[in-house]
Amino acid sequence: MKEQTVTESVSSSLKIAQPGSPALPLNSLDVLPEERYHTGSFEFDRVLGGGLVKGSLVLVGGDPGIGKSTLLLQICQSFKEELKILYVSGEESKHQIKLRADRLGVTTDKLLLLTETDLNSVLGVISSEQPDVVIIDSVQTMCKADVNSAPGSVTQIRECTNAFMHMAKEQNISVFLVGHVNKEGALAGPKVLEHIVDAVVYFEGERQQSYRVLRAAKNRFGSTNEIGVFEMTGTGLEEVSNPSKMLLEGRPKDVSGTCVTCVMEGTRPLLAEVQALITPSGYGNSRRMAAGMDYNRMALLLAVLEKRANLALFNQDAYINVIGGIRLDEPGADLAVCLAVASGFSDFVIPEDILAVGEVGLGGEIRAIHNMEQRILEAARLGFKRILLPARCKLKESEADIEVLRVSTLKQAIYYIRSETSPAGKAK
Ligand code: TYD
Ligand code: MG
Repeated sequence: MKEQTVTESVSSSLKIAQPGSPALPLNSLDVLPEERYHTGSFEFDRVLGGGLVKGSLVLVGGDPGIGKSTLLLQICQSFKEELKILYVSGEESKHQIKLRADRLGVTTDKLLLLTETDLNSVLGVISSEQPDVVIIDSVQTMCKADVNSAPGSVTQIRECTNAFMHMAKEQNISVFLVGHVNKEGALAGPKVLEHIVDAVVYFEGERQQSYRVLRAAKNRFGSTNEIGVFEMTGTGLEEVSNPSKMLLEGRPKDVSGTCVTCVMEGTRPLLAEVQALITPSGYGNSRRMAAGMDYNRMALLLAVLEKRANLALFNQDAYINVIGGIRLDEPGADLAVCLAVASGFSDFVIPEDILAVGEVGLGGEIRAIHNMEQRILEAARLGFKRILLPARCKLKESEADIEVLRVSTLKQAIYYIRSETSPAGKAK
């Protein structure tokens, strides 16, 4: 149950008001490009669409403990511009923050610290200090005195966010709003704010693993598909400039059921390893599990394999996992998923130097996808020698040192891969 405060609205008959601000012809407006601050983190800037826009409100969401406070404290030090920053914490004491700042090497004297949860006090400090950037950690702890519900409730969060939004626009101050998201679906809390704020970035990752992905979910000033990859170390977050290499680290050798693919994350190609474990079902119902990809997409691909490539999967349990905590939300990964399943089912090993990209249709056909050249270049850069791709794909001349193998059906792709391996599992 979530408490909601209902404010009494005076219903009045519809009156046509005098226009407050007139409508203007679009072409009569002169606008300057938005002014941006550079966070000093290449990955963060890219996710924000090229830097933090002056006067914008950015919501930074993520599970508790994932590293949101760490990330924001770190950029206080690394901003390229000389900025006055106000860090408002409602969660940690000044002492705790200072300790963390020391560990992260944040020594700038342009950083002001405030531990406060009352919204009006915070706004008061902002008005008097006039910082360039404000960090609110977190929106769930902020409390507007005249709202009759507990901090963290939907009403409080919405009211506080609206107040910060007004402040950002009126005083031209950039604001980072930290919001905790619960894993289950993130309904209560930051999700209800997505339409208010200018940009939403999510900080994701498995807490047990050290890699973190920063992903833009909404951005009024840039593309939303961009991701930034970081690694959590003993001294804070470090940027990962070659994520494909990281995602392929520790690939098993001579094991069936694994295939590498290349997906586009925004403007960037990323290599990812798909693993499939196929085992006979013990009981009547076969179990299916997908981690890192859509469950329904997996079910669909298993059905296509069953019907079009004659793999008897109905009495097999299938577990699909994408390594490194990234999500394959793009149809370009279909072929690799299918090949991993075929390899896991028939227990043959896909040669290490092969990579597969292509969408699989319901007829078992391999369909063309976009950005093929970029994917090929990325595969070649990481040392792959052969790439399986849709027969229909149009390709420009490329200098990439990689053999291109075109396939038009799933059957053909599986046949090709199998002919490259011997049943014992050793690549030819
Ligand atoms: P934090 O930024 O407090 O998370 P959030 O604000 O999203 O709740 O991150 C806390 C975690 O990060 C904590 O489990 C410890 C880890 N960490 C490191 O591994 N190295 C570091 O240098 C820091 C500051 C934190
Ligand atoms: Mg925190």
